[in-house]
Amino acid sequence: MLNLSKAPLIDAQKIAKRIGELGKQIGGEYDFDIIVGVMTGSFIFVADLCRAMPKKKAQIKFIKASSYGDSTESSQKVKVSGLDSIQVEGARILLVDDILDTGRTMKALVQELSARGAKEIRTCVFLDKPERREVPITANYVGFEIPNEFVVGYGLDFADEYRTFPDVWTLVEE
Ligand code: IMP
Ligand code: MG
Repeated sequence: MLNLSKAPLIDAQKIAKRIGELGKQIGGEYDFDIIVGVMTGSFIFVADLCRAMPKKKAQIKFIKASSYGDSTESSQKVKVSGLDSIQVEGARILLVDDILDTGRTMKALVQELSARGAKEIRTCVFLDKPERREVPITANYVGFEIPNEFVVGYGLDFADEYRTFPDVWTLVEE
């Protein structure tokens, strides 16, 4: 049976502090035109992050990314939707996702944005699980590095549940 860890892996207070720092850093060094958030996992992170970098007149857009393909993980492809309504050509983009895991999603999104003529792309993830990486990619901005554990809360889900939890919890097999 899957259960939540006894205590949060990252509590809301720690999250708020880190996002304050991250917003200050990004806001101070990157003059982006559009924040592109990856639905659904990044919705809370995007909302908090943009309030941590005030007075940016950037647009906020959301896209959807889903993995498909046959069952073997190595042949997974990423389907992207929602890009057609974004003026990517010539834009400086801040691409925001909830978590960098195998890296496939982020890699596919960067390739797609770049193929559509983005002027600059920087990536920002709330969480990074470097041990799980299958394609070589690092994010420009990372909230927290975490071990190879499945986590939920603060936007992240298991079977579409737990997203509303204010802290990040580990799901453990018991
Ligand atoms: P990647 O393409 O393997 O890097 O996968 C990234 C996507 O997998 C994320 O956007 C999440 O939706 C999902 N994911 C990966 N690890 C976790 C986790 O620990 N909890 C919840 N979702 C996860
Ligand atoms: Mg996701």
